[in-house]
Amino acid sequence: MIVVCFVCLGNICRSPLAQGVFEKCVAEQGLENHIQVASAGTGSWHIGSPPDERMQQTANKYGVQLNSRGQQFQSSDYNDFDLILAMDHSNFSILEQLCPRPEKAQNLRMFRSFDPEANGDLNVPDPYYGGGKGFEIVYEIVNRTCPNILEFLKDRAGLKA
Ligand code: 4NP
Repeated sequence: MIVVCFVCLGNICRSPLAQGVFEKCVAEQGLENHIQVASAGTGSWHIGSPPDERMQQTANKYGVQLNSRGQQFQSSDYNDFDLILAMDHSNFSILEQLCPRPEKAQNLRMFRSFDPEANGDLNVPDPYYGGGKGFEIVYEIVNRTCPNILEFLKDRAGLKA
């Protein structure tokens, strides 16, 4: 089993959406028995909380269900996750600091390093304090990026036909 974890700040907007969209990609290819999906936040404010109502509404509009509950990323999580994807540079640097052993750092990547349209901007913009458009932008980025992450993992795990 390969386990991937998406990480943002609050674990109620960006990473829950990435988890939901990626779970859908995995299910569409019948890979649920090979790839497991999680999400977490670097902050502790929303531990136990469902995803932000605005993020849920955007997701549902596109046929994606969000089922996560907020959890805070722990240093020991490096032992459980094969790929850890930071939604922005701030998340990335906190995750770097939490890395328990140098060899584990190779499992940490920027989420948008898999975005075909990143054009050098690797941050998924935080929508929390903005208007509805921000949630749409997050959806667009996540929706075009998740298929590339799945192809990467399939390659790495020898799951390609
Ligand atoms: P997220 O958005 O990191 O995409 O889940 C945020 C959610 C909550 C807060 C910040 C960002 N907050 O400050 O509570």
